Amino acid sequence: MTEAWWKHGVLYEIYTRSFGDANGDGVGDLDGITAHLDHVAWLGVDAIWLTPFYRSPMADFGYDVSDHTDVDPLFGDLGAFDRLITAAHERDLQVVVDYVPNHTSDRHPWFTDSRSSRNSARRDWFFWRDAGRDGGPPNNWISLFGGPAWEWDQETGQYYLHTFLREQPDLNWRNPAVRDAMFDVARFWLDRGVDGFRVDVAGAVMKDPELRDNPLNHGRPWRGMFGAEWEAQDHLHDFAHPDVHRVWRDFRSLVDGYDRRDGRDRVVIGEVPSHDLVQWAAYYGERLDGMHLPFGFHLLRHDWGSGTVGDVVERVEAALPAGAASSWVLGNHDQHRVATAAGPERARAAMMLLLTLRGAPTVYYGDELGMTNVDIPPDRIRDPWERNVPGQGRDAARTPMPWTDGPNGGFCPPGVAPWLPLGRPGLGIDVASQMKDSHSMLALTRRLIEVRRQEPVLRGGAYRALDDLPPGVIAFLREDGGRRVAVALNLGHEAADVPLPGGRVIVSTGLDRDDPVKGSVALAPYEGVVVRLV
Ligand code: NOJ
Repeated sequence: MTEAWWKHGVLYEIYTRSFGDANGDGVGDLDGITAHLDHVAWLGVDAIWLTPFYRSPMADFGYDVSDHTDVDPLFGDLGAFDRLITAAHERDLQVVVDYVPNHTSDRHPWFTDSRSSRNSARRDWFFWRDAGRDGGPPNNWISLFGGPAWEWDQETGQYYLHTFLREQPDLNWRNPAVRDAMFDVARFWLDRGVDGFRVDVAGAVMKDPELRDNPLNHGRPWRGMFGAEWEAQDHLHDFAHPDVHRVWRDFRSLVDGYDRRDGRDRVVIGEVPSHDLVQWAAYYGERLDGMHLPFGFHLLRHDWGSGTVGDVVERVEAALPAGAASSWVLGNHDQHRVATAAGPERARAAMMLLLTLRGAPTVYYGDELGMTNVDIPPDRIRDPWERNVPGQGRDAARTPMPWTDGPNGGFCPPGVAPWLPLGRPGLGIDVASQMKDSHSMLALTRRLIEVRRQEPVLRGGAYRALDDLPPGVIAFLREDGGRRVAVALNLGHEAADVPLPGGRVIVSTGLDRDDPVKGSVALAPYEGVVVRLV
């Protein structure tokens, strides 16, 4: 039996608005993605993850769903989705779609019905509560996008809960009818052929049954990801209720039922909190019957110059349940681009790390080119989070994919304003320029993915950290039986000599080495090598 693809497959995240604009309105769409699937297949990844393309008023750019089983006209229609999935499968690409269970749009019929009267049959599908004793919100919960998590509804005289924007009311998953309706949504997309789900804020769907106040934060290190107001609390009651694991176990058995029927391998990937490794590991389920892959965000917001990347990897390796596959993510549509977070000089080494660690890596579209955050002029800001909490905005990492060095980077027709500005042209950060350069970041990414396929130890092999390394260097072995590959990465700005057993370099970050290694390997600043040991 072959191993399930998701255990070490490379997932490629496509921010649907920003990949390709086929209809020329400045916003990416499904046909635009289909048109660029040859690039994705050429890169060699195993699967694509599409951010939401469902019907939505777009208050949070698709994470406010008003119809879960239809495509927003901005992105196409169900026919366009079917074309995309067929084209992807023809290229051996699995298709993972976003599943947004925690909230809907405030224009979703479920919510408009719930809101219509205190006696609505769907009133309890959302969280409606009377005002607190002081006439204010029922508890101290904070919206992740700033301000209280409760919105007053004048008509029915109660507050409703919204963990994100007021346009994103939270669903009450303790109501079995909600669970059934949302499970039906999953069935709809599974029946249409998807290969899995990326579950949005999977940790938040079960709240404290009494909706108690959150305690103050006594030292939980949120790493500045969410804004000072939100990070001032310990999100014990709104985000970390253990009942959540029951939901994902049931969801997993729904998905497994499809696998059993046709022998295919589908995946459930969770956007889950990763600050506390014990809590994070719990998402795999006690018998690995929960999420296949809780996303591994452990290196997001990491200080790449601190010399502690190796420590983080070690801690995650130690926390990983036996038999579980790990996941690594260095960037996504909510975070700084990795080339900005780690520094452009470390972008290649970061890609080498991502693609040689144990488990399943996620490559964010454009990171294969070394895209950095793009400066967004104030009048072009689109992200509501930036408007509410300046500095938290995500537009800079969501800019259109540059396919060429020409007008609008070939993302949309010349003369059309793309929904967000592209990065500066002429710097070689576009697909066409990098295709012509055999030493480009694109060539490196493709080569690393190819090496993952050629060297089984890079997929299934164990991880063993190497010790006694020069400052700034991380080095580890991937091994399985007699086969061993070493990875050595210099994340520091000084050249370093790294002790390694004998072997030969099979890929270097500059794509310029194949030298033998005898006892040590010399690394320039920010250089990395993969060495096949003899
Ligand atoms: C996480 C998503 O990745 C983010 O983009 C979104 O704003 C929130 N969840 C709310 O759905």
